[in-house]
Amino acid sequence: MTREKVLEVKDLKKHFSAGKDKVIKAVDGITFDIYKGETFGLVGESGSGKSTAGRTIIRLYDATSGEVKFNGEDVHGRKSRDQLRKFNRKMQMIFQDPHSSLNPRMTVLDIIAEGIDVHKLAKNDAERKKRVEELLEVVGLNKEHATRFPHEFSGGQRQRIGIARALAVEPEFIIADEPISALDVSIQAQVVNLLKRLQRDRGLTYLFIAHDLSMVKYISDRIGVMYMGHLVELADSDELYENPVHPYTKSLLSAIPLPDPRYERERVRIAYDPTAHDTSEEPEFREIRPNHWVRCTSKEFEQYKKELEKK
Ligand SMILES: Nc1ncnc2c1ncn2[C@@H]1O[C@H](COP(=O)(O)OP(=O)(O)OP(=O)(O)O)[C@@H](O)[C@H]1O
Ligand SMILES: [Mg+2]
Repeated sequence: MTREKVLEVKDLKKHFSAGKDKVIKAVDGITFDIYKGETFGLVGESGSGKSTAGRTIIRLYDATSGEVKFNGEDVHGRKSRDQLRKFNRKMQMIFQDPHSSLNPRMTVLDIIAEGIDVHKLAKNDAERKKRVEELLEVVGLNKEHATRFPHEFSGGQRQRIGIARALAVEPEFIIADEPISALDVSIQAQVVNLLKRLQRDRGLTYLFIAHDLSMVKYISDRIGVMYMGHLVELADSDELYENPVHPYTKSLLSAIPLPDPRYERERVRIAYDPTAHDTSEEPEFREIRPNHWVRCTSKEFEQYKKELEKK
């Protein structure tokens, strides 16, 4: 099976300078591909660099170094305004907090139509309005909502508006940065199901960023685990859950509550000790099984391999 790569990220770095002589290596060399139609989950604790990675990929930030290709074309580097506009249309982002990411002084109509205006996708006002009304229905709101303002909606509804705004330009690829973290648990599944339905109907590709592994497993085909600016493990979702190799991944998995109270009572949380690694050489990203990657030294690699064989 040959799969078409939508996104290729190679050794991407984003460092921030924080005062004199201080550098924050928010993203410090990550490499992965995303295939057409899949959902790639990116997980890791707060501050591990997930949002910075997403924002750098979509070029909200300039990369410090490394490469991002979208449909085979370099996203960073020098670009004409036309080329940038084209990327801009094909890649969209959905944010965590639908409250602060929607302008409170704009109507829902104008918020959703922003991309339509920028890319001149409607011939006149009537067509513009019609497109927005269609989008509202696609995301489970109704067209009467177009004249209202963001504060008149619940968190879940606001996130639907954010999704409609992203869809307005007919993107191929969407980066969703913790799109459900700020919502009530009861609403989270609804928004995830909406995203999944949209993916099926429109052939969308997602980079889905999340804190914890519980919802991500349900939505992702493959998962990358970030720790302090690095990808420490990457595998198909099932493989990652069944055969986690990196101690940090094991620790994240041990934090997920189990639905069955009998097992939940006996669940053991594994703490991650970053100082317990082999330091005889710089760790590298190595393929331990087909399509299963882990960041480790050669010594750790042999040890992890043995553990996998014993299973
Ligand atoms: N604009 C910025 N300027 C300076 N430092 C930043 C900036 N944005 C992020 N950082 C720092 O980079 C690191 C990674 O932050 P980032 O927001 O990417 O993490 P995250 O994994 O998305 O965390 P969270 O789960 O809390 O959203 C943190 O140490 C953060 O303080
Ligand atoms: Mg973040």
